[in-house]
Amino acid sequence: MSGFSAEWLRLREPADAAARNPALTTRLIAWRRRHDALSVLDLGSGTGSNFRFLARVLGGRQHWRLLDHDPALLAQAHEDLGRWAIKRGMKASDEGETLVLKDNTNHCRLERCWLDLSEDWAWLTVVPNPRLVTASALIDLVSADWLARLARRCRQWRAVLLIVLSYDGSIAWEPAMEDDERVREWINRHQCTDKGFGPALGPDAAPTLAGLLERLGYRVGLRPSPWMLAAQDAALQTALLDGWTEAVRQIAPGPDAWLDDWSRHRRDLIERGHSRLSVGHWDLFASLE
Ligand SMILES: C[S@@+](CC[C@H](N)C(=O)[O-])C[C@H]1O[C@@H](n2cnc3c(N)ncnc32)[C@H](O)[C@@H]1O
Repeated sequence: MSGFSAEWLRLREPADAAARNPALTTRLIAWRRRHDALSVLDLGSGTGSNFRFLARVLGGRQHWRLLDHDPALLAQAHEDLGRWAIKRGMKASDEGETLVLKDNTNHCRLERCWLDLSEDWAWLTVVPNPRLVTASALIDLVSADWLARLARRCRQWRAVLLIVLSYDGSIAWEPAMEDDERVREWINRHQCTDKGFGPALGPDAAPTLAGLLERLGYRVGLRPSPWMLAAQDAALQTALLDGWTEAVRQIAPGPDAWLDDWSRHRRDLIERGHSRLSVGHWDLFASLE
């Protein structure tokens, strides 16, 4: 789980899709029925997982801008989305930085935008008024100041927000082991280290954004969207175990023999098909209507 490789994003995508809060997806669909052509900003889009989930949910005419600072992920998104559309009987045409996917009922334009969201707030002025601002698995990386700025700009645009799969700080393994809680506390401290946006909010990000938006007059829904990983999700459990062990090693004071023991036992349980894991997230939907 080091960085955000395309492999890691591919591995988590089915778990993300299964975890999304259905009540908030329903609210999004109800909102969409009242709006025609749709412009969407996807912040930290990675390889396009958020689009793949939402394109059919939203339906009709959509203009997406996929924003990310990683050019390799954006290139992968372009490739993956073309293949994804063709598999679903859609036509895909490539117009340089823009991909057009269409069938009888849907027409999606996807523009790739390579930029660093942490540095250059110019993106907020170059992107024409989006109707929907969305992000998946992003805002736990950002600072309170960054979120406040985003919230104010969304209010100026009068945009709806769908911000999903923000880590909420809870991790529960089954069977439980003695050091689970110790590891979870270190992971949550690591969550709050700087990820390029200033001190990260980690588990507090989604409730913080909810409060900011409410103060700006938004009606906000904040609902759980946990990963519930079973024995057959061994690859994702193992990737999480590796990423968390590495994160704890980076910041916990040594010696870390306890961590090696914990990690070894956890891996053994996963490999023997005896491990279940839940990881808490928040989904947020906010609109002014
Ligand atoms: C956990 S991944 C989620 C990707 C995608 N939304 C998904 O759900 O699969 C976080 C994404 O944020 C992007 N990201 C992180 N920091 C960024 C920054 N400063 N500017 C733009 N994108 C950034 C990463 O490149 C990565 O694609």
